[in-house]
Order: sequence, then structure tokens, then C-alpha cells
Amino acid sequence: MPSNEAGAGHPASAGESHTEGEEHEPRVPQENGTGAPDLARSALVRPPASAPAPAPVTLRSDLRASAFDGSAALAVTAVVFAVLYARIEAKTSSTVTVMPFMADTGAFWMYFLSQAFGWSALLWAWGTVVLGLLLSGPRPARLPLSGPRLERLHRTTSLNTIALIFAHALLFAAELIHHSKDSWLGALGTTFVEVFVPGGYDSGTGRIAIPVGQAALYLALPLGLLFYVRHRIGPRTWRAMHRFVLVVYVLSVWHTLLYGTNVWYDGWFRTTVWLLQLPIAALFLMRLLRPARRSQRLRGLGEHPGSPAGWSLRLVGRVAAVGIMVVLLAVIITGRDGGRVEPPPDTTSTHNHD
Ligand code: HEM
Repeated sequence: MPSNEAGAGHPASAGESHTEGEEHEPRVPQENGTGAPDLARSALVRPPASAPAPAPVTLRSDLRASAFDGSAALAVTAVVFAVLYARIEAKTSSTVTVMPFMADTGAFWMYFLSQAFGWSALLWAWGTVVLGLLLSGPRPARLPLSGPRLERLHRTTSLNTIALIFAHALLFAAELIHHSKDSWLGALGTTFVEVFVPGGYDSGTGRIAIPVGQAALYLALPLGLLFYVRHRIGPRTWRAMHRFVLVVYVLSVWHTLLYGTNVWYDGWFRTTVWLLQLPIAALFLMRLLRPARRSQRLRGLGEHPGSPAGWSLRLVGRVAAVGIMVVLLAVIITGRDGGRVEPPPDTTSTHNHD
């Protein structure tokens, strides 16, 4: 491991990742349950001194490695698209309840494909956050993936999440251009502003929901990709910034619950989206309570190495994480999850997307 990179992180956690095939070096020797460091495990994970230096991790090498889970993401998108399409045809989709003109599948297939990419983006974001929290918090002993594999999967799923969000936004843009009455060039300009410029979309809930989605996308780019230049910006800076990737995830979920027409109304599907946030909240809490880096553990105020302000911040973080879990549980149990009430089926709906 190049010593000048010691302490560099990886796309969504505080772990170190520098060279391909290198074991995720324990930030501290792992404990074995007795409170003593598990030196046997630490020794096992170190490559022998004579082992050839593994290839460095670069954006290019990770892009190549992303092909497999990228294909899986495309397969999932295709399945979701088929389901959404079939629901529109069967007139059971709430997208059509919200926007009756969308019943024409032939005319609006790009919109449904954009929705499908939105779901795979959210699913991949979920997965990569879970992997990141497993890397930076306690990891189940029986996990079938080794540290380096977990890290690599975390990096490739992060890259694929960014690509899926782009596909989601681009297909939405393609749909707007397709139905625009403007000239091709005029439509391109207007659509670019509506889809990619915060504040450019000025109708209904989209006035808030679109900038929330854009914020997720624009934050995901630096917070994920700066990993590949971490030796230039400094591993500490990288790690400090990368922590905020959780904000990207929260914005993505907020955007979905606010704007997704398939989760527009109260019901099991919307509640399931909330339910999926429970494991993330639990892992986040565990990560705060038992961080992989010993320096991040919360000790008594007197024993804490940092300032009292840092200690208070860590304590507030833990209390907030418990609060999030309580709120999630309340939402899931009561089913009061912020969805709109579905209009009766015989309504001649005049709803639009606001
Ligand atoms: C430039 C950024 C973005 C734009 C312009 C955008 C646009 C949209 C639009 C127009 C919808 C409404 C579709 C419907 O009628 O249901 C939507 C829904 C959705 N978006 Fe985004 N979005 C962006 C970012 C994101 C991000 C970052 C994620 C998640 C990682 C995401 C995931 C979703 C999901 C899951 C839905 C629900 C689709 C459905 O109900 O079937 N979007 N987005």
C-alpha cells in the first residue's frame, strides 16, 4: 500500500481502498468479542511482504469492473419497466390516475422507462449505502464477501448509481423534447433548463421535487468521484467530504416520495419504500455506536481525545439516529406516510402532476 495514501477512504465510507486485491486493512485490529484485538484475523488479512504489488485502483479500472453489476441494474430496470408498462395498460397504475393523458403507452413509453431507471437508481443507491455502512461500521462475521470485494462492490455500485440517475433524468428530458411543440433546438434548450438547472422546472410539486433530485445528482458526482483523486486532495479531506454522501441518499428518497406517481397515494408500495429505510437507519446507528475506526468511538467526556464540541457532536449524532429509527417505526406502524388520498375510481380525474 503506498504509504502516502494511508487513511484514504472509498466511495461511501471511511474505509481505506488503494490497490486492487488489497485486503481492507483494518483501521484498528478487529476485536474478537473479548475486547482484545483479533490479531490472528489481522495477520490473516495482510498480504505477505513478498506478494507482487496489486494494480492501483483508478476510475478506469473501476469502470471496467462495473460492467457486471451495471448489467444487473439494466436487467432490473427492464423488469421494472415491464411491470410499470403492464400496469398502465391494465389501467391499475396510479401514474394514470395522477395524469390521465399518460394512458397512451405508445406515446409515453420513454416516461415509463425514466420511471424504471428512477427505481433502479434508488435501489442501487440503497445497496451502495448499505455496503458503505458495512465498511465503516461493524460487519457481520458471517458475511460471504471479503473486505476488498465488499469495497469494490461498493465502488462499482456507486458508479452505477450515478449512471442510473443520469439515465433517469435523460429519459425524462427525451420525453419532454419528444412532446414539445417547439423547434428541435428550442426544445433542447428549454428541456435542458427544466431538467438540469435548479429552478428551471416551474410547475406544481416539481418546483421542489426536481431541484431535490438535481441536488442529489450534483452532490453524488463530487462525493463519489473525488475518491479517484484522493491523493491530490488529501485523504482526510476526501473522508470528511465523503461522509456527506448520506445526504445524497436522503435527498433521493425525499425526491421519490414527493414526486413519484407510483407512490403518490397512501398504500403498501409507499409504505414499503419507508420500510426499506429501516435497515439503513439501523446500520447508520450501528456505525455510530461501533465505528470501525476506534478514534470515532464515543467514550466518556474526560477520556475523549478530541474537543468537548466534537464529543457533543458525536453524542447528538447517536441520539438523532435513534430518533430517526423511532420516526421510521411510527410511520411504518401507523401507515401515515405522507401519501395523498386516492380519489374514488369513478372520478373523471382532472389531476395533474402537482
Ligand atoms: C436531475 C435529477 C432528476 C430529475 C430531473 C428527476 C425527474 C423525475 C421525475 C419527473 C419524476 C416523476 C416521475 C413520475 O411520474 O413518477 C421522478 C420520479 C422518480 N425519481 Fe427522479 N429525477 C431526478 C433525480 C433522481 C434521483 C437522484 C433519484 C434516485 C436515486 C430519482 C429517483 C426517482 C424515483 C424512484 C421516482 C419515482 C418513479 C415512479 O413513481 O415510478 N430521481 N423523477
